[in-house]
Amino acid sequence: MRRVLSVTSECVPLIKTGGLADVAGALPAGLAGQGWQMRTLLPAYPGLTKRAGAKTAVFSFDDLMGGPSQVLAGDADGLDVLLLDAPHLYDRPGGPYGNPTDFPDNPLRFAALSLAAARIAAEGRGDGWRPEVLHAHDWQAGLAPTYLAQMDCTDVATVMTVHNIAFQGLAPAAMLGTMGLPLSVYTSEGLEYWGQISTLKAGLVHADAITTVSPTYASELMRSEFGMGLEGVVAARADRLSGILNGIDMEVWNPETDPQITPYSATSLRGKATNRKALMSEFGLSGLTGPLAIIVSRLTSQKGMDLVAATADQFVAAGGGLAILGSGDPLIEDQMRLLARNHPGKVGLRIGYDEALSHRMFGGGDVVLVPSRFEPCGLTQLYGLRYGTVPVVAATGGLADSVIHANTMAQSAGVSTGFQFHPIDEMALAQCLRSVITLFSDKSGWTRLQKRGMKQALGWEASSAAYAVLYESLIGEHNGAT
Ligand code: ADP
Ligand code: GLC
Repeated sequence: MRRVLSVTSECVPLIKTGGLADVAGALPAGLAGQGWQMRTLLPAYPGLTKRAGAKTAVFSFDDLMGGPSQVLAGDADGLDVLLLDAPHLYDRPGGPYGNPTDFPDNPLRFAALSLAAARIAAEGRGDGWRPEVLHAHDWQAGLAPTYLAQMDCTDVATVMTVHNIAFQGLAPAAMLGTMGLPLSVYTSEGLEYWGQISTLKAGLVHADAITTVSPTYASELMRSEFGMGLEGVVAARADRLSGILNGIDMEVWNPETDPQITPYSATSLRGKATNRKALMSEFGLSGLTGPLAIIVSRLTSQKGMDLVAATADQFVAAGGGLAILGSGDPLIEDQMRLLARNHPGKVGLRIGYDEALSHRMFGGGDVVLVPSRFEPCGLTQLYGLRYGTVPVVAATGGLADSVIHANTMAQSAGVSTGFQFHPIDEMALAQCLRSVITLFSDKSGWTRLQKRGMKQALGWEASSAAYAVLYESLIGEHNGAT
């Protein structure tokens, strides 16, 4: 087996706040099918070493940014994990990044993760295992390629994957020394970003290749509306950039076997009607003549919830209902509370994070609404496809790449799988929701749409093959260079 080290701050089944965890957790199984053994390095947040039975130390540090630390090898439901046990950095309550506000020492906490990854890549674990590729995810792992370059390690290829460029890993320039980095990397061609350190920029400039999680987001990243100031940096490396669409775990998300719901399949959708009824009663909804839309989301400005608030009156007046599960920005949470209060029996709300409930929502919903202002990939539209819960999405990033809009042509050609709206504003969403309601009233047309979505290939096969090809080509370059 070829060897790759994945470096991430979250990973299913151990710790999750968003899609990064789903992706980091599912990628290793996909890559195994391609002949790659992926080991995943992440921080030992409270309880994780026990959960993963991680007892064997495979690497140790006398002092890793302020305290002794070790890397423990373990296994989480078949996932080969390396946990960075650094109590001074990770043994504290409050989620991976702090809650409600970020931990002030986050730059250091994740610089430590990146440094540990680079050391393992450069020197190998105690038992001799050493990766050929280091794959860094987001700003939390962004410094790993920089550290590796500082160690003069040239036989390990590096990949930086951007899951969301809105999070850039900014830190005061004065932290450079504490992070163990020389002044020579603090330049505009290096990791300096408007007078600060950006650990994401470090990864973007120092990794051998940059990937992001959909082809459309890859091209959006080079435009000022989406690049969030880093568009020039990405554009300068356009020849090293690719977009590889995420897959989903087809076992965890399977309406035929999901223990949270009455099972159903693309052959018979009968169970879905039972789930719909149960979901409506769970959210206190009744008397809908139109579609039941669901939202499962972080409630942040990225996710376009203001557009939902602005269009809900019309949608409800036309017979639609809405079940929302999410948490995040307190102001957006309040906006959603107000929405539910104004539409008793038609809009139901759960503030919180609830994996099991999210499965019941996909099982019972008619439509999943994803009106994001930008969306690198998005996973809930993919779960929607898999569950016959028709996605209604903003035409951006991975949403645009994974849903085929049901316009008249696509409908008659029999290829549509959902709805897209553009521009991403209130009027376009309202108009799109009117088309949804019209098609929903055509039962056979709607069922055909649902079934087409359910038959899409949404697993990791194609994407992991693309990562494997990328790894191979980078290793080829490194071999050619030495
Ligand atoms: P992002 O990573 O930007 O939040 P994604 O769509 O890629 O967006 O991934 C979000 C993941 O988190 C999905 O697996 C989704 O089902 C899950 N999720 C988001 N909010 C909740 C919630 N409140 N309860 C349960 N699952 C949630
Ligand atoms: C980020 C993005 C989301 C993507 C996920 C996994 O959280 O916001 O669009 O699906 O990463 O790649």
